[in-house]
Amino acid sequence: MKVAVLGAAGGIGQALALLLKNRLPAGAELSLYDIAPVTPGVAVDLSHIPTDVKVKGFSGEDPTPALVGADVVLISAGVARKPGMDRSDLFNINAGIVRNLIEKCAATCPKALIGIITNPVNTTVAIAAEVLKKAGVYDKHRLFGITTLDVIRAETFVAEAKGLNVDNVRVNVIGGHSGTTILPLLSQVEGASFTEEEVAAMTKRIQNAGTEVVEAKAGGGSATLSMGQAACRFGLSLIKGLQGEANVIECAYVEGNGEHATFFAQPVHLGKNGIEAVLDYGKLSAFEQEAMESMLDTLKADIQLGIEFVK
Ligand code: NAD
Ligand code: LMR
Repeated sequence: MKVAVLGAAGGIGQALALLLKNRLPAGAELSLYDIAPVTPGVAVDLSHIPTDVKVKGFSGEDPTPALVGADVVLISAGVARKPGMDRSDLFNINAGIVRNLIEKCAATCPKALIGIITNPVNTTVAIAAEVLKKAGVYDKHRLFGITTLDVIRAETFVAEAKGLNVDNVRVNVIGGHSGTTILPLLSQVEGASFTEEEVAAMTKRIQNAGTEVVEAKAGGGSATLSMGQAACRFGLSLIKGLQGEANVIECAYVEGNGEHATFFAQPVHLGKNGIEAVLDYGKLSAFEQEAMESMLDTLKADIQLGIEFVK
C-alpha cells in the first residue's frame, strides 16, 4: 500500500503524516509532497520513528514523483481560513491548486482512491471530478470529500454532553462540509435523547466547530490536529477496504445516486474498489428533514461553481 499526502508540510499534512507513519500497515509506503522546500526534511524526520513504514519526501513544482504507484492520495494542499472568512472565500486560491494536483493524479495514478481535504470541500470535490472526467479517468467510486472531522466532532460533543463513553458513540453527518450543509443525524444516536432545544444547539455547535477553531487560533489558521486525526481515520478506512476487510463504513462527500445533489455526504461502504455501496442514511426527524431540504440550494450552487471553474 502506498499513500501520498499532498500538502504534507502544512499543519494538517504534518499531523496526518505523523499519524500515518505510526498507524499504516507494516510494509506500507508514505509519500509526502508539498511545494514547501522543507518537505524532504519532514520525511527524514519521520523516517527516524521505528515503524515498518517507508517515508519519502518531495518538493518543487511537480508532484509526479510522489504519485507514482499511489493507491491512496490525500490532498490538504492549499490555504486555510482566518477569522471573518467563510470556507468559500478560499475558492479563488484553492480551486486552481486542486485542479492542478488532480491533473497530475489523473496522469500518474488514475486508479488511486483520492480523498480531498482542501476547502471549500463542497466545491473542490466537484472540481476534481470534472478534471478526472476531462482526462477520461473519472470513477465515482474512487473520489471522496473528507468530512470525517464533522463526524469526530459530533461524536466528541455528544459524548461530552450526554456523559457517554465516546468510544461507543456513533454519529452520521450528512450533506456537505460548510455551515448549514453540515447535518448531524442526532435523532439516530443510540443511547442518547435530545430535547428540541438541545438538538438545535448541538447541531449549531457542530456546524460552527470549524469557526470555533479559526477564532480560537486568532489568525493562526484552522483545525489541523483534529483534522489530521480525522484524515488518518478516513485514510486507514480506505486502506482497510482496499485490503478486503469487511464492514468498513465511513461518512464521506461522494457522488451517490443524485437524489439530493450530485455530491452528498452520507455513509458509504468501502471495499477493494473504493465505494462498494452508498448506504441509506435512515429515517430523518422532522427537524433534520427540514434542515436537509433547506441546505440543498447552497450545496448545489457550491457544486455548480466547481463544474463551471473547470469548464
Ligand atoms: P497550511 O497552510 O498549514 O498547509 C497547507 C500546505 O499546502 C502548505 O504547506 C503549503 O505549502 C501547501 N501547498 C500550497 N499550495 C500547494 C501546491 N500547489 N502543491 C502542494 N502543496 C501546496 O493549511 P492547513 O491548515 O494544513 O489546511 C489545508 C487545507 O485544508 C485548507 O484549505 C483548509 O481549509 C482545509 N481544511 C479542511 C478540513 C476538512 O474538514 N475537510 C479541515 C481543516 C482544514
Ligand atoms: C474545519 O471544519 O475545521 C475546516 O473546514 C477548516 C475551516 O475553515 O473551518
